[in-house]
Amino acid sequence: MDQSLNRRRFLSGSALIALGSYCTRIFSQGTQIPKSGFGPMSTAENVTEDIDLTGKTALVTGCNSGIGYETMRVLALRGAHVIGTARTLEKGEMACESVKGQATPVLLELTDFDSVVACAEQVRNMNVPLDMLICNAGVLFRDLRQVRGLEMQFVVNHLGHFILVNRLLDRATIAAEGRIVVVGSAAHRSAPQGGIQFENLSGEGWSAGAYGHSKLANGLFSLELARKLEGTNATSNSLHPGGVQTNITRNLARGTGTFRLPKTVEQGAATTCYVAASSDLSGVSGLYFADCNEVQPGGYMEDTVMAAQLWEVSEDLTRSYLD
Ligand SMILES: NC(=O)c1ccc[n+]([C@@H]2O[C@H](COP(=O)([O-])OP(=O)(O)OC[C@H]3O[C@@H](n4cnc5c(N)ncnc54)[C@H](OP(=O)(O)O)[C@@H]3O)[C@@H](O)[C@H]2O)c1
Repeated sequence: MDQSLNRRRFLSGSALIALGSYCTRIFSQGTQIPKSGFGPMSTAENVTEDIDLTGKTALVTGCNSGIGYETMRVLALRGAHVIGTARTLEKGEMACESVKGQATPVLLELTDFDSVVACAEQVRNMNVPLDMLICNAGVLFRDLRQVRGLEMQFVVNHLGHFILVNRLLDRATIAAEGRIVVVGSAAHRSAPQGGIQFENLSGEGWSAGAYGHSKLANGLFSLELARKLEGTNATSNSLHPGGVQTNITRNLARGTGTFRLPKTVEQGAATTCYVAASSDLSGVSGLYFADCNEVQPGGYMEDTVMAAQLWEVSEDLTRSYLD
């Protein structure tokens, strides 16, 4: 199969559109989605209690730790086959072996775009529709780190996932209801003034907010993806999982103090699992969720012009890895 042709066909919006039993439509942010009845204390098990995911396939990036591990554990518990990515096969195997149900480890290092391509190829070779594609892996640094001349959180949290999702888009659109779920953060509000720093993505000279910048990129990517997916069987939504006690704070510099975040991982994975699996959200796309409900993100997250520009710039930065 000519994958580059598939991707181009998909993006031009012709080949794969409207083949399924229903078509998604983009929801404008602020659209009233019925309240879920779940909230900040709900766990991933609570929100999936009555959901049978037998026969479904989910891909979860960063499956060996924190929110990603709990997401994989609960989706597998409900019957899904979960493809879990980790930065070493050992970590992935250990995580996948420890959950009840079917979980398959795949290697993925998001700073290494060859690794992203290899991961996508391995998943493509499984020849299954992706019912859930969950972009969860992420890093948080306070100091400036770079890779490929770019600020590293932008690369890990956004660009690596941009390549992965693009290479797997046709797997999501052939699913009966392929849900792409991007784990962002309310930290998008702390992105630098002006939002995405298109003129300088190196991170140098940014006053602060590099993590928020990458999380803004997550939200805008999801928003633009939802627009591109309109009329297909697939959807894209982003979310804030809450402040969750995980390994994410391990790279914070000494002196920032130790603190406890309010949510457990069981609670922290609830919004991801809700957005990925709840029948309440059939066909819902282009929205942002927190505490298992749709919320308005604020900041630059509704800037459709910035979202479209980010897509173009991300394509330019990753072009040789997309096709
Ligand atoms: N925890 C919170 O309060 C909070 C709040 C808002 C948003 N989030 C978001 O939630 C998501 C999950 O974070 P978490 O809190 O569960 O953190 P975590 O426990 O540190 O898990 C992060 C996962 O991402 C993986 N990862 C890191 N760098 C990677 C790379 N270069 N390539 C591939 N995978 C990589 C990690 O692998 P290793 O274990 O090998 O490093 C790990 O599996 C992130 O996107 C984060 O931004 C978290």
